[in-house]
Amino acid sequence: MEDSLDTLVAAVLSSAKYRHVSPAFIRAVGARELAIRPNLKSAIKATKNALHQAGGAFQDAPIDYAQALSRLHAAAAAPEPDALRDVCRSVMAAHTSTRERLPILDEFYATTLASIPPPARVLDIACGLNPLSRPWMPIPATAEYIACDIYGDQMEFLNAFFALAGYAGRAEVRDVIGSPPDEPADLALILKTLPCLEAIDRHAPARLLDTVRAPLLLVSFPAQSLGGRRKGMVAHYEERFRGQLAERGWPAERFEFRTELAFLVRKGI
Ligand SMILES: C[S@@+](CC[C@H](N)C(=O)[O-])C[C@H]1O[C@@H](n2cnc3c(N)ncnc32)[C@H](O)[C@@H]1O
Repeated sequence: MEDSLDTLVAAVLSSAKYRHVSPAFIRAVGARELAIRPNLKSAIKATKNALHQAGGAFQDAPIDYAQALSRLHAAAAAPEPDALRDVCRSVMAAHTSTRERLPILDEFYATTLASIPPPARVLDIACGLNPLSRPWMPIPATAEYIACDIYGDQMEFLNAFFALAGYAGRAEVRDVIGSPPDEPADLALILKTLPCLEAIDRHAPARLLDTVRAPLLLVSFPAQSLGGRRKGMVAHYEERFRGQLAERGWPAERFEFRTELAFLVRKGI
């Protein structure tokens, strides 16, 4: 089994689409698939399918991080006050999840975070390119920002972005199913991520919600499927999530946007 698992991880990492994905995450998904598939070949295929659903589906073309970074550097040095925001917007369009948020970006954080005390540390869990929307967040310039996702190249890019924008914090490669973050923070962003985690492990959303050590959670769900259909999906996510909140006695404020349904949850730890 260990030999097959090593072969599976190497095979998945050798494909251009998955070479930057956390090897630990590939290993965890691969071990599960090896246990239930008839042979190595079908386990490799099933692992790639699961990785596609978890993250690959949101990047419809490879993102040119070097080019994005040089545009961000040029914008940070430009005299126009909106130059950096304009480039952040254009880079965020390369990831489906942040692209869907662009039409509501001006109101999304201003509305959902309007009532919170200024956070000193923010976690952005399974962040994708969302840390590029930090300029739209009503949080102190000094707030520490800790982001994570399964893509190594994306985390490297975000660390370079934090350095050029002067943001304290870091972006790290982390599988939040196997290692949910437990570092204390004042606010955790868990945006459009719970359904992706649930597709891999149905207990992962509850485990993540319970492990995160922040008194405030901003949790959201997509209001459109990737194909653009709604199909009662939003109602289904909301019902499930409300059940999880009720079990824990956590109150939440609800915000409905055109492309996203969000909840500001008072976990109150
Ligand atoms: C729908 S996108 C949301 C991205 C971002 N939170 C946003 O709202 O723009 C789901 C994200 O979860 C990440 N992801 C999927 N499985 C993960 C895991 N096990 N650990 C960490 N991140 C994961 C994907 O790479 C992707 O960036």
